[in-house]
Parts: sequence; structure tokens; C-alpha cells
Amino acid sequence: MARFGLVLVVAISLTIALFPDTTTAQLKPKFYGNSCPNVESIVRTVVNQKVKETFVTIPATLRLFFHDCFVNGCDASVLIQSTPNNKAEKDHPDNVSLAGDGFDVVIKAKKALDAIPSCKNKISCADILTLATRDVVVAAGGPSYTVELGRFDGLVSTAKSVDGNLPGPNDKVDKLNALFAKNKLTQEDMIALSAAHTVGFAHCSKVFNRIYNFNRTHSVDPTLNKAYAKELQAACPKKVDPRIAINIDPVSPRKFDNIYFKNLQQGKGLFTSDQVLFTDGRSRPTVDAWAKNSAAFNKAFVTAMTKLGRVGVKTRRNGNIRRDCGAFN
Ligand SMILES: *[C@@H]1O[C@H](CO)[C@@H](O)[C@H](O)[C@H]1NC(C)=O
Ligand SMILES: *[C@@H]1O[C@H](CO)[C@@H](O)[C@H](O)[C@H]1NC(C)=O
Repeated sequence: MARFGLVLVVAISLTIALFPDTTTAQLKPKFYGNSCPNVESIVRTVVNQKVKETFVTIPATLRLFFHDCFVNGCDASVLIQSTPNNKAEKDHPDNVSLAGDGFDVVIKAKKALDAIPSCKNKISCADILTLATRDVVVAAGGPSYTVELGRFDGLVSTAKSVDGNLPGPNDKVDKLNALFAKNKLTQEDMIALSAAHTVGFAHCSKVFNRIYNFNRTHSVDPTLNKAYAKELQAACPKKVDPRIAINIDPVSPRKFDNIYFKNLQQGKGLFTSDQVLFTDGRSRPTVDAWAKNSAAFNKAFVTAMTKLGRVGVKTRRNGNIRRDCGAFN
């Protein structure tokens, strides 16, 4: 390292001169236009193949991207494997174990890119995950959109950094708004991104409280549609393996659409954090508007995803391009 010291200093000052210190300045759709002009089609081919093999790739990739950006910025820190000396983000108890197919799609896309000499080790893992996320949305029938590129991969990933940064299934609107605001996202962004649950699934353990022991006076959460509560009890009997998975959108679980909002109007939000978007008067008008108008929802979703993709972006100064997405260089 020492013998590169001078080169490094020169490189850093050059970088500072070329890249002003704003996190979004470096992002642009054609960031790899010279080095790897086909990056988008290469990633898309891998994503579509993987989606054909397992649908779960879609929610898994969305969840991974969301988790990555909310914890320490969109810098692929979530992809890092723990080592004996470091418990990484992905092994926090709010784990992304569900997201195995999301990890896999990034690793496969990276491999496909590395097979092309001009792309090899040129595309950040953070950008691969961002592209793959857009591609799974499209694969599920959601809106397509331009992805800004130029994120660098983070140099830190700790389980501790996850604490208190991810929304949970029992969160109410105030808490949700506060967590999103930390990432410069508005209540509208929060509602639009929550709708990614249109293709999500959950484990029975996460809804037991709403269908069996809500509180002292109500065993079932009274904001839950009664017929839907019965369906959930049938799918998740008290003694079921808590890892059994159920769809979050009971109507069109494999389609990215605005039915999520129609479900909320009928009391069919799986989590408290879904249903409160309708029961809370502050967010209800947006839920009602997007239940009626899917184009308006799509537009808001694209805006929110683009803003999410700008959170905590790393530059050449505090990031690099990982050779292996699961390990620091
Ligand atoms: C994380 O994963 C473990 C096992 O994979 C599971 O037992 C635990 O409930 C999960 N935690 C959360 C918060 O999902
Ligand atoms: C249980 O929840 C319902 C609905 O939110 C509420 O009306 C009731 O007061 C709660 N009961 C207790 C004991 O907290």
C-alpha cells in the first residue's frame, strides 16, 4: 500500500476536482457507456432467466435493494458475507435470509458481465443490484424506468448498522414516515414503495399477532377484513411451521399492480404497516387515489425508486468496484 501512497494522493485530489462533493452528481444513466455499453441488456437477460426459474427472485431482489439502500446507502453493503471478524449486515436478526434469490441474481449477473473483457470488474455490485431491481419490477408487469448508474461499492458492512433503520411489520405511519424521512423520502414515496408488497410474501410468524392475539379485548385485529382474517387463520394455523410463506397481496400476488391499494381499502393489508396506510387519515387519500389510478401509482413508484437509488451513494473516494460482490477487495 505504502508505495502507492503518492499515486493515491494524486488520484484522490483528481477525484475531488472531477467529482464535486454531492452524492448524486456522479449518477447518470450512461455511466458505463464507454466501458460496458451493453450492461443493461446483459443484466436483464440474467434476471429474466432467473425469474423464469423462480418467481421468488422478484420479491427477493426488491427486498434486497430496499434493505441495501436503507442501511448505509445503496452500496451493496447488504451483499457482504460475514467473516469470523465481522458480522455483516445480512446477518442482522432483521435478516434478508428471504432474499437468497436476490443475492443469486446479482452474483449471476456479475459473472455474465465479467465474461466480457471490457466490462470485467468495471460495474459496481450496487449498480448491478439497482438494475436487477428495475428488471424484476418490469418482469412482474410493473413500470419500466431509466436507472441512474455510477454507484461505487461500500467498504463497510456491519450487522449493527441495521439496528432501527428498517421498517417493521407492526410499524404505524409516524414511524414509517420517520424512517423514510431519514433517507430523504416523503410520505408519498413511502406509500409507493410499500406497494412493492404487491409481489411480496411473508412468513406466518409475522402475522400471528394480528390473527390470534391482537390485544386483551380483540384476538383478531379489528381493522382486518373478517373473511380475510379467516383465510389467514386457515393458511397459518396456530401450530404451523412459522416459516410457512404466504402472499402479501392475496388477489394478484404475481403481478406488480395497484391491487395492493384496493386490498387496503377492503381491510386486506397483511401487515399492520400495510393496513395503517388506509386506516390513517393522512395516508388514506393517497391510497384511494392510487387504487383508482394505476398510472398515477406507477409514476409515483418510479419517482420513489429513483430517489431511493440516490440514498447514501458512494463515490471513488469512499467506495470501489468489488471483484466479488460478497467480499471486500
Ligand atoms: C432471521 O432468520 C432466522 C433464521 O434464518 C429466523 O429464525 C429469524 O426469525 C429471522 N429474523 C427475522 C426478524 O426475520
Ligand atoms: C384493542 O384494539 C382495539 C382496536 O384498535 C381497541 O379499540 C381496543 O381498545 C384495544 N384494547 C385494548 C385492551 O388495548
